[in-house]
Amino acid sequence: MNSLLITGGAGFIGTNLVHHLAAVTDHRIVVLDALTYSGDLSGIGPLIKSGRIEFIEGDVAAPETVTHVFARHQVDRVIHLAAESHVDRSIADAEQFLRTNITGTYVLLEAARAAWPDKDPATTRFVHVSTDEVFGDLGAQDAPFGANDRYRPSSPYAASKASSDHLARAWQRTYGLPVMVTHCGNNYGPWQFPEKLIPLMILNAKDGAELPVYGDGRQIRDWIHVDDHCSALRYVLERGTPGHTYLIGANCERTNIGLVEQICDRVDQALQRPAGSARALIRHINDRPGHDQRYAVDASTTHALGWRAAHTPETAMAGVIEWYLDHDRWCENIRSGEYRGWYRSQYSS
Ligand code: NAD
Ligand code: DAU
Repeated sequence: MNSLLITGGAGFIGTNLVHHLAAVTDHRIVVLDALTYSGDLSGIGPLIKSGRIEFIEGDVAAPETVTHVFARHQVDRVIHLAAESHVDRSIADAEQFLRTNITGTYVLLEAARAAWPDKDPATTRFVHVSTDEVFGDLGAQDAPFGANDRYRPSSPYAASKASSDHLARAWQRTYGLPVMVTHCGNNYGPWQFPEKLIPLMILNAKDGAELPVYGDGRQIRDWIHVDDHCSALRYVLERGTPGHTYLIGANCERTNIGLVEQICDRVDQALQRPAGSARALIRHINDRPGHDQRYAVDASTTHALGWRAAHTPETAMAGVIEWYLDHDRWCENIRSGEYRGWYRSQYSS
């Protein structure tokens, strides 16, 4: 029986995507994930235990592993998420970003090319999940990113994702591999490693720790709830056209400082603290080198498939904050790596 392979399925978006697809489709789902610092099986563990999905611990940049997974599970569809994903880490040390994001994508594309001799888009599909960051940043008056925009990546992370996008499109054009590339804005929601802005701010506000805002905090990101990204990926998988590019966004541009203040006020309310307690923890610190000023996504390519986002930060943030306050043990454990060790012994095959 054929399988849908989800790489990086133990990460933030992957965990949410696996739950979404397991619930609303009948695909046989195989997750390949190396369980790096940001991968953890506590989210998808119950689906592994129940037999709904299969988990394989392995590296997307290892050709033998990937070839074996394609053959053993008769992989006919791929959603490729596995990556090093954090910009600040890429600035500190880019090497692993090049290996995972570029070599890993190359290895997967080659495995798909070998396994799918017909490359029939009716029966085989490869969704390469990329980011809006490959387009660099926008000025205040610029139109949102569109599918034909020029690449201008700023960070080592964005450059590595841009490289992988070029490989994906080249394999589509040269070899006819049925590849679709997606570009999404900043995701928020459950299971996000708490180094990223939103979970970091929620947990620090809860703990009474400083809230580090880079520079003046006037930078703008286009925020999307992870559930909306996951449903968009399903639309692209099911309805997208190979060779096409899909931009995914919820039309929610917000400044970092505005978002952080919103989180502060909601955490104060949730914990019944005096208004302004969390805002007093905000500290403006040195800016991120090469920091992109503004991202904004024109999602009309994905709207054309019939997809629409359902959430905004204002409607969804209270639920997201509640999730992190309820899962503080998970947050502590994933930061320490404890969960990965425990679940690895239970679920890995
Ligand atoms: P994440 O860091 O939470 O998860 C990445 C997952 O990939 C982890 O489970 C990790 O163990 C796994 N992984 C890392 N290296 C691997 C390797 N060599 N082999 C196999 N697995 C490996 O990241 P995320 O935020 O869930 O992002 C997932 C994808 O979505 C990435 O490709 C990212 O570029 C893209 N994306 C993310 C966002 C966002 O806002 N988070 C927005 C647009 C696009
Ligand atoms: O746009 C999509 C991208 O969004 C994804 O491709 C990346 O994988 C994902 O990590 C995210 O990148 P960002 O760099 O935008 O996300 P991050 O959460 O690191 O930062 C969001 C904004 O907040 C950014 O302008 C930097 C700022 N920031 C971040 C942190 C962690 C702060 O001001 N303080 C912080 O402590």
